Amino acid sequence: MRILNIESTCDETAISITETNESDWGGAQFSKIKILGDTLNSQAALHAEFGGVYPSLAKREHIKNLVPALEFALAQARMLYRISPEQKIEKEKIAELAKILEREKELFARLILFFAQYGRPNIDAISIVSGPGLAPALWVGVNFARALAMAWDLPILEVNHMEGHIYSSFFPDFDIDSAIKNEEEVTLNKIQYPALTLLLSGGHTEIVYIKEPLNYKKLGQTLDDAVGEAYDKVARLLGLSYPGGPEISRLSDNFEKSGRKKPEDIKLPRPKIQDYDLDFSFSGLKTAVLRLAQKLEEEKRLEKEKEAVAYEFELAVQDVILTKLKKALEALEEPAKSLLFAGGVSANRRLRDALEKFAKENKLSFFKPPLKLSGDNALMSALAAHIRLKVLNSKAYRNIEDIEARSNWALGED
Ligand code: KG4
Ligand code: ZN
Repeated sequence: MRILNIESTCDETAISITETNESDWGGAQFSKIKILGDTLNSQAALHAEFGGVYPSLAKREHIKNLVPALEFALAQARMLYRISPEQKIEKEKIAELAKILEREKELFARLILFFAQYGRPNIDAISIVSGPGLAPALWVGVNFARALAMAWDLPILEVNHMEGHIYSSFFPDFDIDSAIKNEEEVTLNKIQYPALTLLLSGGHTEIVYIKEPLNYKKLGQTLDDAVGEAYDKVARLLGLSYPGGPEISRLSDNFEKSGRKKPEDIKLPRPKIQDYDLDFSFSGLKTAVLRLAQKLEEEKRLEKEKEAVAYEFELAVQDVILTKLKKALEALEEPAKSLLFAGGVSANRRLRDALEKFAKENKLSFFKPPLKLSGDNALMSALAAHIRLKVLNSKAYRNIEDIEARSNWALGED
């Protein structure tokens, strides 16, 4: 089964072409996947100017980047076939394409040019991450996927963004480019179910229990800001650039390496750490950082203590997360065998190390995505698509006209 996967949920435009074989299905997962093509174009540097993702800019960039990304991924997969003028797509299809892309006229123009030059690749399905994410960004990808499926007469399936993150932890640490170049199959991690998953991204903070593939139960979530969002907001308060996660992490690591003792007054709350539920709240933590930063500024100490504040912020987040995970483990009806950590924040060095230690102490196998696949990309959703198709068969497919951007699509919802 060969799938072309499209990702445009936020500020990354990504396309991959992947292949799995029936014989590699072990009942709950594929042991291998072949990456035929993969490209990722991050807009982060453009959004940095605005201090966060600017929706209309994200939409414009996806419109600009999708066709070049498609050409690149197809070329890598050796599926970019030049056609003669008489092989061009039918007139009726062009009219249909115009309808699908009526709100993305520039994308329509680019795609028409593409279809005039290149033929249908040898793939079996199109998958699109239709949510959760930023609605204007999602719509561009959704309509692009619908256009390709219609033009090439291919079935289409939807993948949930958070589900994609979950499967990112199935990938080992590997060199994507050389795997593509050398046509090597990637041997996936062997995850044992049930798995407890910690999903931390810019929009989500969730503890999810996975009994078996596609069977998700959300045990807890944030009541306000997501962890990644808190990192981004705190970074802004400290005058650091977007995305804030890596910046805070860098400062915090510097502080730790300096060997300095944290001043007594640099102390932040651990919100909801005592509560019995498994929910989180991070907006109060951000406000506490604001007050602390104001106090330090008044005392003309902020510049000197920024690294200590970043360090204390990371410790506060880590304390809350580990405490809630411990509570989650204790509350499970059937014990978990694995701990998965995914979402953009899973790039965080301190949390990776802390969770690895936590997993060891609790006799769980620990899986996290390779750093290259911790943020949004088109390989994680590819794996989710292959698994969805394997488990659900043709029930995974949707009618082209029924697919919409689902900015609030909850994990586990149909
Ligand atoms: O999953 P993702 O790439 O996009 C969303 O789906 O939201 O996650 C992005 C988030 C941002 O908030 C970013 O600051 C955070 O992940 N992030 C990090 C690190 N790298 C990225 N947070 C903490 N430490 C990092 N090293
Ligand atoms: Zn994400």
